[in-house]
Amino acid sequence: MLGVCYYPEHWPEENWTRDAARMAEIGIRFVRVAEFAWSRLEPSRDDFRWDWLDRAIETLGAAGLKVVMSTPTATPPKWLIDARPEILPFDADGRPRRFGSRRHYCFSSPAWLEETRRICEAVADRYGENAHVAGWQLCNEYGCHDTVLSYAAHCRPAFQEWLRHRYETIETLNGEWGTVFWSKEYADFAEIDLPNQMVTEPNPAHSLDFRRFSSDAIVAYNKLQAEIVRARSPARFVSHNFMGYFDQFDHYKVSADLDVATWDSYPLGFTDERMGLPAETRVRWARSGHPDVAAFHHDLYRGMTRGGRWWVMEQQPGPVNWAPHNPAPADGMVRLWTWEALAHGAEVVSYFRWRQAPFAQEQMHAGLNLPDGTPDVGSREAAQVGRELAETGFAPTPDVPAPVALVFDYEAAWAIGVQPQGAEFDYQHLVRAFYTALRRLGLDVDILPPDADLSGYALVCVPTLPIADGPAIECLHGVTGDLVIGPRSGSRTPSHRIPDSLPPGPLRDLIDIRITRVESLDPAMVEKLRWHDRVYPVSLWLEHVEGPLEPVARLSNGKGGAYRSGDVHYLSFWPDEQFLIDYFDSLLVARGFEAVRLPDALRLRRGGGLTFAFNRAAAPIAAPAPDGADFVLGGRQVAPYGLSAWRQR
Ligand code: GAL
Repeated sequence: MLGVCYYPEHWPEENWTRDAARMAEIGIRFVRVAEFAWSRLEPSRDDFRWDWLDRAIETLGAAGLKVVMSTPTATPPKWLIDARPEILPFDADGRPRRFGSRRHYCFSSPAWLEETRRICEAVADRYGENAHVAGWQLCNEYGCHDTVLSYAAHCRPAFQEWLRHRYETIETLNGEWGTVFWSKEYADFAEIDLPNQMVTEPNPAHSLDFRRFSSDAIVAYNKLQAEIVRARSPARFVSHNFMGYFDQFDHYKVSADLDVATWDSYPLGFTDERMGLPAETRVRWARSGHPDVAAFHHDLYRGMTRGGRWWVMEQQPGPVNWAPHNPAPADGMVRLWTWEALAHGAEVVSYFRWRQAPFAQEQMHAGLNLPDGTPDVGSREAAQVGRELAETGFAPTPDVPAPVALVFDYEAAWAIGVQPQGAEFDYQHLVRAFYTALRRLGLDVDILPPDADLSGYALVCVPTLPIADGPAIECLHGVTGDLVIGPRSGSRTPSHRIPDSLPPGPLRDLIDIRITRVESLDPAMVEKLRWHDRVYPVSLWLEHVEGPLEPVARLSNGKGGAYRSGDVHYLSFWPDEQFLIDYFDSLLVARGFEAVRLPDALRLRRGGGLTFAFNRAAAPIAAPAPDGADFVLGGRQVAPYGLSAWRQR
């Protein structure tokens, strides 16, 4: 269940045998290779040099290791870019993004699609049936380094074609976008530009469609690679490594063409400004990662593929090089992160990378081993997990449904992103507040798309769903437990218009309210919400609600804040974590759940017949285990930066 990312092309060949033996020795089974190796595989056009990779794979295989082979498309080589510069992506200022780092390709470039097909066929022909190859990674981190949106000349006709397909007639597009505003009416699809280099903001409908178009281009690109590899590599899995806090393309749609969804987990790197945490909170979790940062993504990616198969393809092994600040993990955290992923159902946790590179962009990024090859902290902790896995015989259980579901929607992120209305209104931050509240209550959480089957859950949370259309509405009607819907839900049509019936648009069938005004508030502007006898701060977002329902919570100005109609709840403000904890708790207790309130550094997760407790504090914390619990790992006091696990009864 452990793996590692290895770059044989970075090291002298005489190291390979020793490296492979040491990998096997510490319990590693899978080795991902070659995702950036194009220049060594094909130093000039059609001059393929497979011999070194053949030998590397043979060496790994001889040590009993399985190989995850990659398509090398994240790094097209110099000779190719020089021959076909039309591969390069363009930034929003209309400048090409040049050769010299990685991901320098545009998903819509016809030349690039041809070259992708050629290299993928060659690599899959060579290694598709290699006995040591267990599966594939397609490309590397689609969209990394801000490469989803590209504004190259060839994107324009492709976008126009996409619009023609969506709207059929230009009159429909004009009507849906509202192009009469500021005299933007078009006579033909061929007149429509990409939404960049304008005097001020483009029409949000234009921007939203460009995001959809760009996402669809990635879906098609991934499908192209998946089909090539599948046809040549029977009985091997096909995967891609997604990222953290990344919502610029629809990962559900990409995953429809994958067998295994994987993601790259860098908990310290992610506990930075992007999480929207105040400085003191960031510092608090600087050496452990915020308690929900990795778990959230484990739950998200578990919901990606139909079979629920997922891995961590890259696990942070020590300090990284790319965040604003790069502290070292506390001793114990690499072990904790690994067990946490396994407890959430990961099939494999694979470390990035085997050995720190002494050269180039990532020379400041730790590996399991130091640049001179000596084992570093990460290596010792991985070996410890290897031993513990052998001792406990732990096997993950990815497909046991959790009691609560959280709806995560990529289009929601785009709809908010093209017109935030308040500078701090960030989709991911709102989702994380909901997730943290559920996890503080000790709950396991399934994260699902809005068109998933949501029946059977005791509680379904929809932090926000601005565009609630056809299939999503049906699924929300199918909720059998409590349904908590957050602000801005149903506030836009698919063409980013305010619905004729006013927000929450089609959700009015679920709860009879009408939003007549919204306010975004400076974070320093804090109102008070009273619910039962408790008072909570409210900032960032407030809605004015009309309708027959009496609010269940009120603001200090007398206006309503939370509404309920049967089991459907609507929160007309940006809820803080404490409010959500208390509110969810009251709903669950009413459904017979036992109230659990975890200390903020502790999290629980059930998996493989065990209940795990993870402690991110520097002091021990008592595990909420039943009397007489049978501990398999750790004990009743969960060690600092450690974990305990006991058998479920
Ligand atoms: C990932 C990427 C790896 C490496 C790593 C460093 O985003 O897939 O190639 O760059 O980050 O943390």
